[in-house]
This record gives sequence, structure tokens and C-alpha cells, in this order.
Amino acid sequence: MKTRLTCLFILAVISPPVDGQWIQRGALKKVTQQNRSEVLLECTRGSVLLSFLSPSMIRVRCQESPVFAPVPSFAVLPAVRKPPLLARQGDLSFESTCSATGIPGISVTINPRTGAISYSGGAAHPFLEEDPRTSAVRADGRASRVWMKLPGDEHYFGFGEKSGPLSKRGCAVTHWNTDAYYYGSGTDPLYQSIPFFLAIRGGRSYGLFLDAPERSSFDMGSQERDTFSFGAASSTLDYYVIHGPGPKEVICRFTELTGRMPLPPHWAIGYQQCRYSYFPESRVREIAREFRKRRIPCDALYLDIDYMDGFRCFTWDREKFPDPKKMIRDLNDMDFSIVVMIDPGIKAEKGYFVYDQGVEGDHFVKNPDGTLYKGRVWPGDCVFPDFHREATRRWWGTLYKGLLETGVRGVWNDMNEPSVFNGPGGTMPLDVVHRAWGKEMPHAYCHNTYGMQMVRATREGILALRPGERVFVLTRASYAGGQRFAAGWTGDNRSYYEHLEQSVPMVLNWGVSGQPFCGPDVGGFTGSPTPELLTRWIQMGSLLPLFRNHTSKNTRDQEPWVHGKPYEDINRRFIELRYEMLPFLYSLFREAAETGVPVARLPLLEFPGWEPALKPYHANQFMVGSDLLVSPVVRIGETTWPVCLPEGKWFDFWTGLKRDSDGKRFKVDAPLETMPVFVRAGAVIPMQAVVQHTGEKPEGALILRVYPGKEKRVFPFYEDDGISYAYRKGEYRITGLSATLEKKASVFRVEYVRGKLGPRRGACVVKVFDIDRKPGRVTLNSRELEGWKYDTHQKCVEVAVTSLESGMTIRVQIGE
Ligand code: GLC
Repeated sequence: MKTRLTCLFILAVISPPVDGQWIQRGALKKVTQQNRSEVLLECTRGSVLLSFLSPSMIRVRCQESPVFAPVPSFAVLPAVRKPPLLARQGDLSFESTCSATGIPGISVTINPRTGAISYSGGAAHPFLEEDPRTSAVRADGRASRVWMKLPGDEHYFGFGEKSGPLSKRGCAVTHWNTDAYYYGSGTDPLYQSIPFFLAIRGGRSYGLFLDAPERSSFDMGSQERDTFSFGAASSTLDYYVIHGPGPKEVICRFTELTGRMPLPPHWAIGYQQCRYSYFPESRVREIAREFRKRRIPCDALYLDIDYMDGFRCFTWDREKFPDPKKMIRDLNDMDFSIVVMIDPGIKAEKGYFVYDQGVEGDHFVKNPDGTLYKGRVWPGDCVFPDFHREATRRWWGTLYKGLLETGVRGVWNDMNEPSVFNGPGGTMPLDVVHRAWGKEMPHAYCHNTYGMQMVRATREGILALRPGERVFVLTRASYAGGQRFAAGWTGDNRSYYEHLEQSVPMVLNWGVSGQPFCGPDVGGFTGSPTPELLTRWIQMGSLLPLFRNHTSKNTRDQEPWVHGKPYEDINRRFIELRYEMLPFLYSLFREAAETGVPVARLPLLEFPGWEPALKPYHANQFMVGSDLLVSPVVRIGETTWPVCLPEGKWFDFWTGLKRDSDGKRFKVDAPLETMPVFVRAGAVIPMQAVVQHTGEKPEGALILRVYPGKEKRVFPFYEDDGISYAYRKGEYRITGLSATLEKKASVFRVEYVRGKLGPRRGACVVKVFDIDRKPGRVTLNSRELEGWKYDTHQKCVEVAVTSLESGMTIRVQIGE
């Protein structure tokens, strides 16, 4: 019954309009420019308000009435904007212009007969056009939809956390946060909802964000070849059209609108080890000891639900963990950070302090008749905090006091779709009452934002209790803009190659959707990976943003050593790689925090016109920043692997050897000990000596791998204390590094040094690659150097320096 209702609902939302069922907005009757940035379209049976928010962004609202009330949003930040000037060109065309520069931005044109809007941005043809059906509201007012033309060569990415193919052209997706235990590559929806996509066509790009917290859906050509459509279970639609023209610009603007990931603490980007569940205390200590004894680097250990007393949040099972404070202190002394699970389901039991406080403060969601809503989760019958309510969020935040005093550093919020074992569709009934913005709102409206508001409460609470330290929260459910509060993981995947293979497209599409800090359960959650599968997953995970190994109950142990040699050694080598790459990765995390451009990138973000990237067999190639292209082996038993690099000069990361790419696919050797990684010419990759955790000072020198190229790109190498907010007051260092090919020399240059920490001092080895034979001369700031080395295998020159001052230049002469 439940499933039938859901199916009927989805069909109703995505079927094309049928007379009597859908009310189309119809032909244009009147156009009014309301002020310098808003245009109202009144059509025969509906209205549209176009708000030009910036030269590159238009907010579009569709509803029946021409009177548009302000609507609050969970996703969109209340930014102070300078709306552009609108120039009216005739009756039916408007162009936005940047008021400061006078440069034209998006323009819209309206077809008077159909009322269809088309959006243009500097190119000859519109980048987005409504289909003549335009928009419609369902007769019962319970759904609205917009139809757009689907160009034959356009591809769509994003949509948040979605499995399935990388490009969603031809797919239909739904946004309804769902506990999708044991999901597969075709399962939809999953845990999070980000109704945003990035369109790329012939190298040009735009984005569309449907700000609908209700259930929403996108059909990107699965039903009709020439049309795509999107809609929500609501009588109004509120969406944003964001013009690039580059894809990175679109992501940057989308995250300007919905917010960006705050810079995480350094430890959270190290390797993390989890399982459901490590207990008792002696087992946790044993795991910690094994990491250190085997010299496998690790920063974080997780405690899953079994640390609690009968799954009561904010309590400890004193039999399993008699002295948690001492245990955590000892683990901290071994340089592990402890992350604990907290779920939203609060055991409905008088005498349990969280329940009692919550009842007293009126903090739980209710049935329409005013009684407490109860649903079954791990502890049995539970009540659920009303996270949309500010007072409840504040109360929830205070509950973390005890855990923080016990030494806990990070929090993992799970089951927050919310998942309810005995609820309809695995969640709360749609009429359960929440309170948002001082009003009573049904669960149908608050469902997709429940997890987001939970992690907001968690993050803000921890920050209030421990203001000097950065916060790490991991969440399973969220909504657009959720990156402001927590990192995400791809939920309960399985220990199959299919899941290894889908990890990358999931992370890439999620990154496009504004969430740069995410990753899969390495090794797979349900089931047990074969030794080879675990190793391939650790390799891939080593260069994905969130690097966490996790497995379920009743599965075999999954720590990196469990399969013995040679697997343990290979696993260690790749976890070490993660730590060697930290200076590079941390700089990319800072870039993501500043611009929204993700750490792990869809290659098309760097090469928007690169057609081969769209081939399904390249769906798991990913870029780390602008310069590394990783092609993880995702199939069983393979020892050679196809790679495709955009045309130009690349280098094999492992051998240092050059590869001039003609853009065609080629095979590389990829035995289990290796994973294909290539570096783009023009890159500088800062690396460090292996450490056992992020808090350890590397013993060896900083290594700058320099790969000169014709085109100059400057890598902003970022450093700070890794834990506090002092960076916000300028306590950081950004060293801008470049690697260029000049007439007869390969040149490494420190372009600038920014931040209060001043120039970097200490041992540093600059390795300049692509030097075919021993050079005649190497200079440092024009003075000839002695004591440099030439490596004939890697074809690189090594120069040791003791500081990185602005303007410092190393020139390796490569011609007469
Ligand atoms: C859910 C989570 C999983 C966790 C388990 C027990 O299935 O997705 O990661 O281990 O609950 O808390």
C-alpha cells in the first residue's frame, strides 16, 4: 500500500500535463518591470516573478497569484546583494548589467504567445529555454512543474548524492531523504537532497537550483527526448538560474548562494577508522595500538552506537566503557581523535535526562493532535527533536557538553533522514508537526531539511561550547547548503566492486552540488571485501576528500592490516601517500572553503569541452585540484588499466616520466601495488615526509614537485595551525607557486607570500621534472648554484633550499 502510494505520487509529479489535471500558466498577458531588478509576468493562469540577483543569477518564482510574498529558505544565505541594473529592450526582453562595471549579464526574452522564457548569456543562442508548456500547477495545488528544452548535446551533473551514471542525461531523480540501506547503483532516492544541477554543453555551463524542501524530482530526458522537467510537491516553484560560462564559476556562484564548507580541522582530513561497533574499551585500545605498532598512519577512531547505554544518546555503556574520559585521554595521548555517533531518535523513557529535558522544553515533534510523535529506532520507541525550531537547536547543542568534556573531538549524526523503522516509507508520517520560522509545518515540508537542521544544531552547539576549535561533524542526511554544517558519506554501501566503481561518480556529483567534503565507506559497509577489493578501495580513498574505512556488524574485520602481506604493505603505502599529500590536499580544502570548487573534481570542471570525459568508462577518473588526474582501478583482477588524459603534456606521478597526450585512451600497467595517477604540466605539488598522524611534525624536508608547463598557473599552497580559527585573523601563510617553461629554462617561482605567518622557513627540496639530461646550469635568484642533484631515472633536478621567500626563482637551464 505504502509503495503504491509512493509510486502514484511520483507519477503524479512527473507526468506531462493532461487537461484538467495540470493548469498551465498559459499565454502572456502583461509584463511589468517592478523595480530595477524585478520583472513580473502575468499569464492567463499563472504568474512568474523574475528577480535579477546578480548579472549571472536570476531567481524565478512561479505560482498562480501575481502577488509574491517573501519566502524564507533553509538553503539560501541572506546575503547582501547589489542587484544589477535591468535594461529593457522592447517589451519582451530584459538584460541585466553589472552596475559597477557595466558588463552585460544574463538576458531573458519572453515569447508572447506561449509565455515561454529563454535565458541567454553572451552567446548567440540561449543557454536555457522553456518548452512551450512552460510551467504548470496541478489542479489540486499539490504539485508544480516546469518543462525546458533539452539540447541534444547537453550533459547534467550534480543532483547531490546520487548513485548511477556520472552524467544524468536520460535519468530521472527524486529528492526525498531516505535510509537506503543496501542500496544499489539504480536506487533512488538516497539519503541527501540537493536539487541542483550543472549543465555542460560545448564547454559552456549553467546551473539550476530548485529551492524546494518538499519532495522534488527532475526528469532529464528519461521520458521525452527533447524536454527535461523538474518540479516539487508544492503549489509554487522557486528556482535559481545561474550562468557560468565556466562550470567552476557556476559552482562558485551556487555556493555563494547556499554557503560553503568551513575549513575542517587538519585531523579530519587524515585517515579515519570506523566499524559498527568497536567495543569494549580494550578493543578500541587494541585497534589504536595496532595502528601505531604497524606504523599505519591514522588520525580518527569512531565509536558507533554500541558505546551508548541501550542506544540512549549522550550516555555511556559503563560495562563496555567503564572510564571513557581516561580511555579518550589515553587515545588522545596516542594522537587519535575520537568521533562518536549521535542519532536523532531519543528513547521515550521517563527518567532519561534527554527525554525529560526535551519534554519539559517542548522540544519534540508532535502528531497533529498535539501528542508526542513516537517512532521506533535503535533504542525502541523514540521521540524526535524539532530541529527546525531555534530553541530546540540551542537545547540540543548544550547536550554535547558532557561528550566534549570526556574528550570527544568529532560527532557523527546518523539516521537523520529521519529513519523510523515502523514509520510509513521508513520515516515519519507526512502530517507530523514541526515548527519552522515560528510556524507549524508538516513533515512533508520539513522532511528533507531535518538532517540539515540537526547537524546545524550539532555544529552550532559544539562551537558555542568549544569556541576556539574547528568542528568536525559527519552526517548521513542533508539538504542544499548542508556543507555549511557537516561533511557527508555515501551511506550503507556494499563490499562489491560495483560499489567501488560508483564511489567516484557519487563523490564527483556531490562535489558539483556544493559538498566538497565527502566519501564512501572504504571497503564497503555491508559484507566483507576480498583482500584485493579492500586494497583497491584504500587506494582510491587515499585521494578522495573523506577517507574513512567503515563496516557493519557481523562482518569480518576490515582494518588495513587484516589480510596480511602483501596487502597490508600496499594499504600502508597508500595511507602514507595520503599523509605525504597533506600539504597539497589541505590547500585544496582551503580553496573549497573559499570558492566552493570541490577537492575531488569532475575532470570537466578543469576541461569543460573535453568530450571523452563523458564516456561511461571514464566515469571514475577524477581530478584532485586542477593538476592531478587519478584513474583508480575499479574492476576485479585487472593489472592494466585504461586511462584517458586531455590533450597536452602530463607526467606519470610515480615515475616522473612525461606523456604527451593526444587525447586518446591508452593502457597503463596497474598491478595491485599501484593506482594510475598523472600530473598536468604547469603543476607544483607540495608534499611532506610520512607522518603517523596530522599532529606529527614531518621529519624530512617539504618536497615541492615541480612540473613546468607552457601555461602559468599559480598553486596557492596554504598552511595554518590546523585546528583553531586564528586563520580568520590572518594567522596563515599562502605561498603562491608556479612552474613554467621559458625560452631555454624550466622555471620554479614563488610568486607571492601572503598572511601573517610570513615566508616559510625550514628544509625544502624543489624537484624540477622533465629535465631530459643533466643541465648545464641551475640558478637560484640568478646566482649559479652548486650542490644540486640530477636523477637520471625520474629525469628531475633536485635543489635544496631553506626558505620560500616571495620572488624566489630557480632556473634549470635546458638548452644552450
Ligand atoms: C546506519 C549507518 C551506519 C552505522 C549504523 C549503526 O546503518 O549508516 O554507518 O554503522 O547505522 O549505527
